[in-house]
Amino acid sequence: MDIFEKLRNNSGPIGTPAKMLNSHHYFSFPMLEGELGPRMRFMGREVLNWSLNNYLGLANHPEVRKADADAAAKWGLAYPMGARMMSGNSVLHETFEKELAQFVGKTDAFLLNYGYQGVMSAIECLCDHRDVIVYDAESHACLIDGIRLHKAKLGEYYKFNHNDMVSLEKNLIRATKLAEEKGGGVLVITEGVFGMSGKVGDLKAIAELKKKYNFRLLVDDAHGFGTMGETGAGVGELLGVQDEIDLYFSTFAKSMAAIGAFIASNDPEIIMFLKYNMRSQTYAKALPMPYVEGCRKRLEMIKQMPELREKLWENVKAMQDGLRARGFNIGETESPVTPVFLHSEGGVPEVTRMVRDLRENMGVFCSIVVYPVVPKGQIMLRIIPTASHTLEDVEYTLNAFTTLADKLKNRVYQSDAVQEVVE
Ligand SMILES: Cc1ncc(COP(=O)(O)O)c(C=O)c1O
Repeated sequence: MDIFEKLRNNSGPIGTPAKMLNSHHYFSFPMLEGELGPRMRFMGREVLNWSLNNYLGLANHPEVRKADADAAAKWGLAYPMGARMMSGNSVLHETFEKELAQFVGKTDAFLLNYGYQGVMSAIECLCDHRDVIVYDAESHACLIDGIRLHKAKLGEYYKFNHNDMVSLEKNLIRATKLAEEKGGGVLVITEGVFGMSGKVGDLKAIAELKKKYNFRLLVDDAHGFGTMGETGAGVGELLGVQDEIDLYFSTFAKSMAAIGAFIASNDPEIIMFLKYNMRSQTYAKALPMPYVEGCRKRLEMIKQMPELREKLWENVKAMQDGLRARGFNIGETESPVTPVFLHSEGGVPEVTRMVRDLRENMGVFCSIVVYPVVPKGQIMLRIIPTASHTLEDVEYTLNAFTTLADKLKNRVYQSDAVQEVVE
């Protein structure tokens, strides 16, 4: 069989429905235009945008824009050339590593050129065939891919039910036994904030389990860095267990509104081991200097401007309290990530009409998640409040959602007439 022919006949789990619905550029690959922020243009119309992980509003902050532009003018995009190990290291890369480590309460850090490949490669590098990985069932794709690279035999890594400590303990018992047989150790992997549900990883209970079982803990705190805890140092800080996190990872793609990532630890030898053994860094170009300088500026602002985090949380609270008061189901979020669960019996045509009404008539843009990511009949609208939204934006959106839910309940979107109105 010709590979291309095979691929043309099966576009994959996300591509197939997109092709069927002809929704490329609408549900998937939409193009949001204009300055990054709460008001952007979608298909020529201005929309109130709730879909960016720009939690602290740094993406378009004038000081950030200036730092990025100055650094690009000074360094260009090339410097430094090569991998850190060979020719791509710099004093600023190492200074920034110290600053990041200090911010999250660790002694050492390793700057990574991308989050996804960085953490994937860290997992691959930390564990050899004797070690056993135990991971949360709702771990991000990059953690799963890291586990896929693990050199253990199929079945020699264990998944615990999402944030379920009874299930974790059961798996720790069998993982400990297997690791002892094989002469390896145990690595537990979870997240600080789960990006779909907004739930906070039960790191306190996991830290308690460390008293009973011998394992190391890796936490992906992509959504917690900058947003959670008194200083923004993440979920470990919030729950008072930062010291129990053996490997703290975060990307710069969310609160920092940039590209890059880091992994930090209180063990300098382990960070040095990662520096010399992570294949994604050893054999790839270092983070360009404008990112290093631009991200240093962002970190400085996160440290010096707690008002950004306070504004974020004011908006989060207004949105989540408002949704709850209006009877919406927002699950168990404890973070800025705000899922809104709606029920639809009318299948894809109904959801399509509803989303078009929300985007085109009400001017509200947020991410929409449907089956198979959530159960059949459920629709999840995902709202990300940021520090750059206003309380008026929140109020407007609460009203729009109330109208939307009423129409859904009254089956308005099941009628073809609505499609005509929207089209
Ligand atoms: C939980 C989590 N981990 C890791 C990543 C990957 O980071 P990056 O976008 O820097 O590759 C993401 C997405 O950005 C994420 O949501």
